[in-house]
Amino acid sequence: MKTLVEFIYDQQENLNYATGEFSRLLNDIGIAAKIVNRDVNRAGLAGILGFEGSVNVQGENQKKLDVLANNEFIKALRNGKQCAAIISEENEDVVVFDDETTRNAKYIVALDPLDGSSNIEVNVPIGTIFAIYKRKSIGTTITKEDILQVGTELVCGGYVIYGSSTMLVYTTGQGVNGFTYDPTCGLFVLSHENIKIGELGGIYSINEANYIYFPEGVKKYIKYCQEDDPESRRPYTTRYIGSLVSDFHRNLLRGGIYIYPGTLKNPYGKLRLMYECVPVAFLAEQAGGKASDGFRRILDIHPDDIHQRSPLFIGSKAMVEKAEELMAAFSSDFVKE
Ligand code: AHG
Ligand code: MN
Ligand code: MN
Repeated sequence: MKTLVEFIYDQQENLNYATGEFSRLLNDIGIAAKIVNRDVNRAGLAGILGFEGSVNVQGENQKKLDVLANNEFIKALRNGKQCAAIISEENEDVVVFDDETTRNAKYIVALDPLDGSSNIEVNVPIGTIFAIYKRKSIGTTITKEDILQVGTELVCGGYVIYGSSTMLVYTTGQGVNGFTYDPTCGLFVLSHENIKIGELGGIYSINEANYIYFPEGVKKYIKYCQEDDPESRRPYTTRYIGSLVSDFHRNLLRGGIYIYPGTLKNPYGKLRLMYECVPVAFLAEQAGGKASDGFRRILDIHPDDIHQRSPLFIGSKAMVEKAEELMAAFSSDFVKE
């Protein structure tokens, strides 16, 4: 039995940038995950379901658990002292830690503290998504270059899924590993070693209710998924939970594709590049899959804004490539190149 902490310290030796500081940072994320897990599990009893009464920068009504999870992660990362700044879905501006002990910290964390908020009240899996970047600047002031880093610079991407069991899945660029939380001893234990996603899966996941607003390439791909061709496992089956973490996690283990495209109303889609698309893209690639915005690799997109959105096509390599092929062939002018 190998715990998350043991695994982190073992892996540290293989990472040229990693010192005890990075391990400490990842460990802090594990600590916050346990606290949020506890809160999620007893949310119905603890009066923390429902809306907070505030609106975040995306114009979304914040739920009490969105705010609570955000606070827990910020608190754990501040206490751990290895993180200099946090980009969070729930904070309009970058949260900069500017006290004596944290201002020289080496890492920047981008965070979706609670993913799948709409599923909180109905006992459907929700999650936390995180991305860790190494700070570029040396000194006391955080710069724009520290914050707006391209996905290829990522040193770690991962998520926590609060599901039928709670798991933490992450990659540092040496494959993907999953740890299941054992509540009886309070430890994350290695349960899914070196996860690989099938080249071709049998699941497609998309909110098909938006069909009429989809680009032509996506409409064509959906029809392709529904055709009868047993050799290529078609028709595929549809699974869509509405929590990116849960939909991605299932497809990672079973093989499949998840699509949140740009639409006529929202050409850039819904998902946020820095703390939703990029970390799962890193995981997908490390598992042998692929992640794109329909035209280009997610990890190559240079962000201009911490909250910018991007379409996402992610999962089994052959499936993403087929969707890209149809996007290129039927590219619609409202989908940004
Ligand atoms: P969040 O709860 O962090 O705002 O994210 C919700 C996202 C994502 O998790 C999910 O895949 C997607 O929204 C679902 O959107 P639709 O309801 O439009 O399908
Ligand atoms: Mn989210
Ligand atoms: Mn969220």
